[in-house]
Amino acid sequence: MSRRVLILLGPPGAGKGTQASRLCAELGLPHVSTGDLFRAHRAQGTDLGRRAQEFMDSGRLVPDDLVLDMLFERVAQPDCVRGFLLDGFPRTLPQAEALEKRLPTGTAVRVLDLRVADAALLERLTGRRTCRQCGNIHHVQNSPPKIAGRCDRCGGELYTRSDDEAATVAKRLAVYREQTQPLQGWYARKGLLSEVDGERAPDEVFRSLRTAAAGMEAA
Ligand code: AP5
Ligand code: MG
Repeated sequence: MSRRVLILLGPPGAGKGTQASRLCAELGLPHVSTGDLFRAHRAQGTDLGRRAQEFMDSGRLVPDDLVLDMLFERVAQPDCVRGFLLDGFPRTLPQAEALEKRLPTGTAVRVLDLRVADAALLERLTGRRTCRQCGNIHHVQNSPPKIAGRCDRCGGELYTRSDDEAATVAKRLAVYREQTQPLQGWYARKGLLSEVDGERAPDEVFRSLRTAAAGMEAA
């Protein structure tokens, strides 16, 4: 079977993590989120985690060299041999170029671009609650847990990410516009981009993503 790489592009709060879990379960691909990898490093107190922390907490991007080493080490693991889904990577042009160089010829690549307006993003991020144990994503209004403060999937403790405070969210959105949004045009020119309206109910967004991932444009 050939190698397949799906890239979820979209601003902070677009629903990349929410949809990545479902897509990966459906397609049998490992979920590779650079944000989750950095948070795992931070939780383990590694040197990389400490170096990434100041960038993440101020809403800036972690420097490309730190991201690339960590990402390429992750996708060299045996579970990625048939492909993987990238969530939150690439986020800069140098990251996209480095990825392109690394992928073996013949790799099928599709970029799914989740579009959501800024007002909805702010509401989603300030209301997000993430499971400390399994990473499952809730929202106080849109997908509240059955038991307050506890993850529906594993019962773990729900917490508010340190970068989900309103001022940091504004910085993250500005950084997205400046450094990541240019990737839309870069991938569109290569004929790899599918735009998906991410402002609908999660089930509807999922159906469109699944269709686009299969190579057919969503209706
Ligand atoms: P990262 O963890 O990747 O954060 P992000 O890209 O800012 O995106 P989020 O995780 O905040 O949002 P999401 O799109 O996953 O939305 P979610 O599904 O959770 O990166 C964090 C930091 O790490 C960066 O700022 C940077 O410092 C660093 N970093 C990471 N990768 C890097 C890289 N490649 N280069 C450099 N630095 C890097 O959903 C959000 C909320 O909305 C949830 O509460 C959810 O329940 C709700 N929701 C989801 N879908 C819907 C829907 N359809 N309707 C209503 N509510 C919904
Ligand atoms: Mg995420």
